[in-house]
Amino acid sequence: MPKRVIILGSTGSIGANALAVADSLPGEFEIVGLAAGTSADKLAEQVRRYNPRAVALSHPAAADALARQLRADGIRTEVWAGPDSLARLIRDLDCDFVLSAIVGVAGLPATLAAVERGLTVGLANKESLVVAGRRMVESAQANRAQLLPVDSEHSAIFQSLHSGRQEEVEKILLTASGGPFRTWSLERMRTATLEDAMRHPTWAMGPKITIDSATMMNKALEIIEARWLFDIDPDRIEVVIHPESIIHSMVAFHDGSIVAQMGCPDMRTPIQYAMTYPRRLAGRGNRLNFSRLERMHFEPPDLERFPALRLGHDVARRGGTAGAAFNAANEAAVGLFREGKIGFLDIAAVTEDVLRRHTYDSHPSLETLMRVDAWARKEVAECCSVKS
Ligand SMILES: NC(=O)c1ccc[n+]([C@@H]2O[C@H](COP(=O)([O-])OP(=O)(O)OC[C@H]3O[C@@H](n4cnc5c(N)ncnc54)[C@H](OP(=O)(O)O)[C@@H]3O)[C@@H](O)[C@H]2O)c1
Repeated sequence: MPKRVIILGSTGSIGANALAVADSLPGEFEIVGLAAGTSADKLAEQVRRYNPRAVALSHPAAADALARQLRADGIRTEVWAGPDSLARLIRDLDCDFVLSAIVGVAGLPATLAAVERGLTVGLANKESLVVAGRRMVESAQANRAQLLPVDSEHSAIFQSLHSGRQEEVEKILLTASGGPFRTWSLERMRTATLEDAMRHPTWAMGPKITIDSATMMNKALEIIEARWLFDIDPDRIEVVIHPESIIHSMVAFHDGSIVAQMGCPDMRTPIQYAMTYPRRLAGRGNRLNFSRLERMHFEPPDLERFPALRLGHDVARRGGTAGAAFNAANEAAVGLFREGKIGFLDIAAVTEDVLRRHTYDSHPSLETLMRVDAWARKEVAECCSVKS
């Protein structure tokens, strides 16, 4: 029987790669549901190709446009509209695997719904864990849901952890390419443009994560993600800069052994691993050619130029509402940077300021997390209007 799959964020970079993986393994998957935000035309193409039972678009006008297109083509796939329609997709469709690949906190409600339904979830949407990590892992345990990492680093850690027992782990070595500004001075980074920030040296990804990689906020989010996914003390997560992005991360064990997972920087590989887990099927991901790989480099991160890393560790240690404030402030600041309203270095500065000023709660409800999220976004918008 094919695995029945719902893809949340099917029109994005991860979503498109997941559909490419499904195409490359005929008979393995049945796409039963797809969801996105506004991309009606792209979703219409996907519906024509995969014939899912239902699709959801969080923006009602886009859903109307999609429904009209499908009706004109005589296609009967149901179209559900509005922010709540994504969680409805999870609750109402029979499925075996959910790929959570929406960008930002917008992915949280449907990801949580999948966990509460006890489903296997391939998690690309790291922001869900950053905002509501405790709630997600406790709910996964209570409902016997499985959270499988899709992020290449966390997939590497997950695979490396199979080499020993939890209590035998000394630390996790989380690798980072260093992004496009790895060798830039702080002065030069002050003048970095959107175009500069979008030029990632090794990975082709959606715009938000690409900017997060340039500030190294992405690595900060990954520290928090790893803390929850692998139940590890944040002080035992060390970031190592590795510009070639060949070693996707490592686990150091108490006996001195370090186990690494390697491969070309190609998201199809970790996506397929999550989709087919625990099996390893023939994949189309690019192959590493050691005769062409001259050398690999490693260096420590520079916390002065990339303060986000320090914040990531702080937030992972504090838990509670810190992740919600941190994530929302960063999402809002990235939005303002993309609109040309703040400078590149302001992203981390504004995020740190909002994080420091938020009213901390160590055991927040989901409602409190959402309230902190909304407050942080408002604060970022206000501090930008004061600046301009
Ligand atoms: N790209 C990578 O290589 C990579 C690697 C590791 C982890 N991740 C993580 O994977 C997630 C997705 O990243 P991406 O690069 O694929 O992003 P992306 O290309 O920007 O795609 C984002 C997807 O989310 C959907 N979306 C955005 N806002 C939405 C909303 N309010 N409601 C419903 N759907 C919404 C978009 O739909 P529309 O097209 O309609 O806007 C699109 O399908 C992020 O959490 C990222 O950190 C990505």
